[in-house]
Amino acid sequence: MNKAKRKVVIAGNWKMNFTPSEADKFIREIKPMLAGKSGCEIVFCAPYVTIAAAQKAAEGSNINIGAENVHFAEKGAYTGEVSAAMLKECGVQYVIIGHSERRQYFAETDATVNARVKAALAAGMTVILCLGEVKEQRLSGITREVVSMQTKLDLEGVTAEQMKNVIIAYEPVWAIGTGLTATPEQADETCGQIRDALAEIYGREIADGTTIQYGGSMNEKNAAELLAKENVDGGLIGGASLVPEKFKVIVEAAGN
Ligand code: PGA
Repeated sequence: MNKAKRKVVIAGNWKMNFTPSEADKFIREIKPMLAGKSGCEIVFCAPYVTIAAAQKAAEGSNINIGAENVHFAEKGAYTGEVSAAMLKECGVQYVIIGHSERRQYFAETDATVNARVKAALAAGMTVILCLGEVKEQRLSGITREVVSMQTKLDLEGVTAEQMKNVIIAYEPVWAIGTGLTATPEQADETCGQIRDALAEIYGREIADGTTIQYGGSMNEKNAAELLAKENVDGGLIGGASLVPEKFKVIVEAAGN
């Protein structure tokens, strides 16, 4: 019964898709389709160079534009990186951190993820922290251990007060971009295990108040069943966030 108290967030993760003009076109198309839908917060996380065009197109709507990553240092000699202060000045509130593609292809570790989370929170941003097990870990029956360890390592040093600005996205790596989706029961169970880890660190009240999304091939067909589960408070959506009609159905499934 705590679900009703939690904020539901449906976030698109565009990944390396959409140039500024493509983002402009997409947002202008989806804006009227999402108008008046207030059952969840709606976010699209965009490539850095696409953010401004998407924000401009989204003006006056219920659509928030976020980023897909942020660096952990305040500033300095980090060629190619973007700081939390830069994103804030551009009016960006939401940022994805620790996505499995960052962990797999860009050598992110729980330590760098933790540093990024702390930098973003210190700047007053809202973090969408991604974590989840790989296939072998699920098959070996150690999913609970993996997600609970990631939760603890990635949030090390994050205060109870700061947890108001943390959303967790449970994303089983084997389900991302593969067309394989966790069953609603698997998603519910593992989101619950993450909530248990949060309760160990921060106590039950904060754990019960934290939004935990599911991500991994969530689409217009399976969203309603997944989002109906007690521990699933929204979705982080890749492929289906690139198609207005599909994303709209997912937003509607979140209680609109
Ligand atoms: P997918 O991606 O919906 O395409 O599986 C989800 C994600 O990577 O956040």
